Amino acid sequence: MTPALSNLQINSDRLWSTILETAQFGGTPKGGVRRLALSEEDRQVRDWFRAACEAAGLAVSIDQLGNMFALRPGKDAGKAPLGIGSHLDTQPTGGKFDGILGTLAALEVVRTLNDAGIETEAPLCVINWTNEEGSRFAPAMMGSAGHVADLPLAEILARTDAEGVSVGEALDAIGYRGEAPLGAQKLGGFLELHIEQGPILEAENLTIGVVEHGQGIIWYDGRITGFESHAGSTPMHLRKDALATLSEIVLAVETLAVELGPNAVGTVADIAIARQSRNVIPGEITFAAEFRTPDAGILAALDKGLQAAVARIAERRKVSVALDTIWRKEPTHFDPAITGAVAQAAQKLGLSHRPMVSGAGHDSFHLATIVPTGMIFVPCKDGVSHNELESATQADCAAGANVLLHAVLALAGDGGKA
Ligand code: GLV
Ligand code: MN
Ligand code: MN
Repeated sequence: MTPALSNLQINSDRLWSTILETAQFGGTPKGGVRRLALSEEDRQVRDWFRAACEAAGLAVSIDQLGNMFALRPGKDAGKAPLGIGSHLDTQPTGGKFDGILGTLAALEVVRTLNDAGIETEAPLCVINWTNEEGSRFAPAMMGSAGHVADLPLAEILARTDAEGVSVGEALDAIGYRGEAPLGAQKLGGFLELHIEQGPILEAENLTIGVVEHGQGIIWYDGRITGFESHAGSTPMHLRKDALATLSEIVLAVETLAVELGPNAVGTVADIAIARQSRNVIPGEITFAAEFRTPDAGILAALDKGLQAAVARIAERRKVSVALDTIWRKEPTHFDPAITGAVAQAAQKLGLSHRPMVSGAGHDSFHLATIVPTGMIFVPCKDGVSHNELESATQADCAAGANVLLHAVLALAGDGGKA
C-alpha cells in the first residue's frame, strides 16, 4: 500500500454531520430518535439515504422487504461485492447511533474513496437492512433474515404490529416494497460497524472492539389465561391471577439467567394486561421474554429450564400459559479472515483494540450464515443503548469508520495502488 493510501482517513466532520442530520427524522425532545421500522420517519430517512447514495454515484436497488443496496462497481466485475452497512430504524425511545453509525460510516467510506479516486478490486455494496430492531414487527433482524432465507418471504410479509398492520402493508404505505427478488443481491462478505451498546470498551479505555462472536438468542411470546373476578370478594385460594403468575415467570427468567451465568441474560418485557381495572383480578396477560448467551449448550439449558418452570407454575396456579418460541438464533462465530482484517486495520491506525462478544443482536449474525462476516465496535457512553441518552464521541465514531475503511481496502482490494 502506498504511504498516501495507508494514511487515508475518512472525513470525520462529514460523517458526524450526517449523524446529526439523520437524527432529525424522528428526533425526540430528549435528543434521541423514534424511528420505528417502516414508519413515516423511516421513509424520510430512507429517502435521504437513497438520495445521498445516488449523489455518491451508487446504484440503489430495493428488494421485496425494503432492504436497500447501493452498489459501487469495482475493477473486477466478476467479484461479488463486499457488503458494508447496518440499519436506520430505531427503538421507540432509541438513540442516534445504534445502526445509524454503521450505515452512515459505510456511505462515508464510499465518499472517501470517491474523493481519493480509488476503485477497489471487488465492488462495494452499502446496505440498509429493514427492521433490525424488531420493536414494531418481531423478530429483530428481519430484513437480513429474509435475505439469507432464515425466514420465508410470505411469513415475514404477514407479520403484524400491535395495530394489526402487516409488514407487507407497511412496506406499501411508505413505498418501499421493492422489485428486486429477496436474496438476489449476492455478496462476497459483510462488515458492520456498530456502537458496542455495553460498558466494556469504555471501562477498559479502548477504542475498537474486534467482534469475534455473537450471542445466541431465543425470543418467546407468552399468554397467560387465568380468570377475572372481583378483587374484594374472591378469596386468595380461589384466584387464578394472571399477573401473580407472570410475576413468578419473571423471577424464573431472572433466576435461570443468573444461575446459568455469568454469560447469560434473560428479560421479560412488553407486558399487556387485558381489560384492566384496579378492582378486577387480572385474568389475561400477554408478555415477551428472551434469553441470550454466547454458549449454545447454555441457550438450550435456559430454554429447557423456562419451559419446565412455566409448566410447574401454571399447574400449581391452575392457569394456562402458552409460551411460543417465535425466534431462535444459535450463537454466531465470525470469520477469522474478516476479524483479522479488522484487527490489522486497528493496529495499523494505532488504535487500541480487543476481541469481543456482541451482547446485542445484529444483521451480521444472519449474514455470517452465508458469507464471511465480521463486526467493528466503538465505545458508547456508560454502555447505554436502546435509550434516548445513547451517546458516542465524534472521535470514536471516526476511529471506527477509519477501521472500516482500511478493512474494506484490505478485503475488497485497493485497486492496485499497493
Ligand atoms: C436488537 O437491537 C437486539 O439486540 O435486540
Ligand atoms: Mn443495532
Ligand atoms: Mn438496537
